[in-house]
Amino acid sequence: MSVPDHVAIIMDGNGRWASRRGMPRAAGHRSGAQAVRAIVESAREQSVKTLTLFAFSSENWQRPKTEVRVLLDLFRRTIRREIDSMNESGVRLSFIGERAHFSEALRHEMAQAEMRTRDNAALNLVIAIDYGGRWDLVQAARRLACACRDNQLDPDEIDEHSLGARLALAEFPAPDLFIRTGGERRVSNFLLWDLAYSELYFSDELWPDFDGNSLACAIDWFGQRQRRFGRLPQAAATGL
Ligand code: IPE
Ligand code: IPE
Ligand code: MG
Repeated sequence: MSVPDHVAIIMDGNGRWASRRGMPRAAGHRSGAQAVRAIVESAREQSVKTLTLFAFSSENWQRPKTEVRVLLDLFRRTIRREIDSMNESGVRLSFIGERAHFSEALRHEMAQAEMRTRDNAALNLVIAIDYGGRWDLVQAARRLACACRDNQLDPDEIDEHSLGARLALAEFPAPDLFIRTGGERRVSNFLLWDLAYSELYFSDELWPDFDGNSLACAIDWFGQRQRRFGRLPQAAATGL
């Protein structure tokens, strides 16, 4: 059964997880951050090569300031807490998204974590933070325009390859499996370009409850999908 090389996850449902327990939303975010560790380990054990996790969207800035602060503090503390063990287990960490709105200190820590783990090869862990699919397409378009202006590219040569090469996930193959926890069936401005042919899996489990076993179920489901990419299934194609 085939295993997805690249799994991309919208980690949704922290707030509801906390509300159902009569706890503040921040407690849900803390449990959500803890849940990441098991998923990273489980992905590695199941031979997933790249795991992309949506941690904070371009639109999440519109939440109350206190919640935004909780989320960004948790992000920073989680990196600090996990970086040594991730490094030891061969995880290469990278971040995608707009970093300009973060403090200089946070940007520095992110760059350090990327540098420290850049030669690791057991699992690529990509954290999407202040990321939006529309932001990604816009920054790629801007880079294409700059290349044209600088005479490095002819506008007539712009194609899927040259645009794709300027997207945040350019160095990785597109996600094979997309997972969203928390019950919503929407993409919420995640990887708009890259999800073109991903298998879409929606789980009603809230993110803090999503564990290695839940991931294994999603991977099993993926194994039963027949991917066609617009072609005919193999058997039908040869029977023409
Ligand atoms: C996901 O959980 C975390 C982020 C979006 C940063 P939510 O905070 O969206 O939780 P719900 O959807 O309100 O339950
Ligand atoms: C998507 O969840 C973003 C992340 C999980 C980081 P949201 O909770 O922000 O999405 P909507 O608002 O329900 O679409
Ligand atoms: Mg949500």
